[in-house]
Amino acid sequence: MCNKEEVMTMIELAKKLEFSQPKEAARQYFLAAEALVQGAKENPKEEQKYLELAQRSFLRGRELKAKPAEIRKVTKSNGKTNFDSIGGLEDLKQEIRMKIIEPFKRPDLFRFYGKQAGGGILMYGPPGCGKSLIAKATANEAGANFIQVKSSDLKSKFVGETEKNIAELFESAREKQPTIIFFDEFEALGGDRTDAPAHDKSAVAQLLTEMDGMDTKDQQILLLAATNEPWSVDPALRREGRFGVNLFVPPPDEEARREILQLHLANRPTEELDYDELADITEGFSGADLKAVCEMATDIPLKESLNTGKKRLITQDDMNSAVKNTKSVLKQWFGKALEQVKRRKLEEDFSELVKEARKEEKAGCN
Ligand SMILES: Nc1ncnc2c1ncn2[C@@H]1O[C@H](COP(=O)(O)OP(=O)(O)OP(=O)(O)O)[C@@H](O)[C@H]1O
Ligand SMILES: [Mg+2]
Repeated sequence: MCNKEEVMTMIELAKKLEFSQPKEAARQYFLAAEALVQGAKENPKEEQKYLELAQRSFLRGRELKAKPAEIRKVTKSNGKTNFDSIGGLEDLKQEIRMKIIEPFKRPDLFRFYGKQAGGGILMYGPPGCGKSLIAKATANEAGANFIQVKSSDLKSKFVGETEKNIAELFESAREKQPTIIFFDEFEALGGDRTDAPAHDKSAVAQLLTEMDGMDTKDQQILLLAATNEPWSVDPALRREGRFGVNLFVPPPDEEARREILQLHLANRPTEELDYDELADITEGFSGADLKAVCEMATDIPLKESLNTGKKRLITQDDMNSAVKNTKSVLKQWFGKALEQVKRRKLEEDFSELVKEARKEEKAGCN
């Protein structure tokens, strides 16, 4: 006899097991399908409904049995972001290791050599090149708590509220040491005071107060900030002892582009791809652009499969066509950045940015 409730439980169970135990899930789907066929015989009035459900259950079971492991892995989250999940940026990783991670892990050693931890690091560079990613990875590598604040979220229209938000933020960081506070889109908070309306200036003032007030007890709090408009960050915030260390996060070079593409395709079913060629034709792309290319290329065979029911691997042609259809904004950003930096006479402060922008300019002329 077919018990409808039992069958539904079987299907529920099968759904839950799809990912962790696909074989068992398939078995449950087949059993459910059998029971439903029986049910169709027993309930002539609802025969059609039973048979339809049986058919779906059977097909799902067969799909699971046929699925190669690589294709299933696609949906699995790749866990924690760490330095290995970031392509390129080797110098930056090294610098962050020395300035943040090791002092966090080995405070005694650093104290022995008279090195003081603390202060803040400002990362700047074009959009989509890994600033936010590296901040998150740093916290994981250092084994620290991570408070990420979108700088605009701290700002309030109400007088006095912004200061309160910032004070509360530092308070909760103190309670949870070791902690990294990451101010994302820092230009929104630390904007140049000469440009800002009066009540906005209070945010910078409060931040300065908090930073200057950090004492030896707060050694396990580290401040990271990121911006793609470094020229509009208040110079007072970039001074020694505050966000005194400024690190440029450059666009990926050829080697890094190859790594980023490999990282983003690692769990996807691809034919053997010519990564040297792909790294070559993606010159001028950011990490985010490369990710977009991988997504777009994956969608090509995926959409086909939805229509035809047949699966095929992601090919070099899919990648090439995705590259052709992706336009990077990096060049535009470098143009604007150079203009802003020059206008404010900040070439010395952001020399690496200027160097990279000149390189882009030259590449554009060729
Ligand atoms: N070096 C990299 N390695 C791997 N993936 C990268 C890299 N750079 C960027 N990406 C991909 O691009 C996405 C966007 O990068 P991220 O958010 O770190 O950029 P950002 O520099 O913070 O940009 P923005 O200035 O716009 O905030 C990441 O989530 C990641 O998928
Ligand atoms: Mg970001």
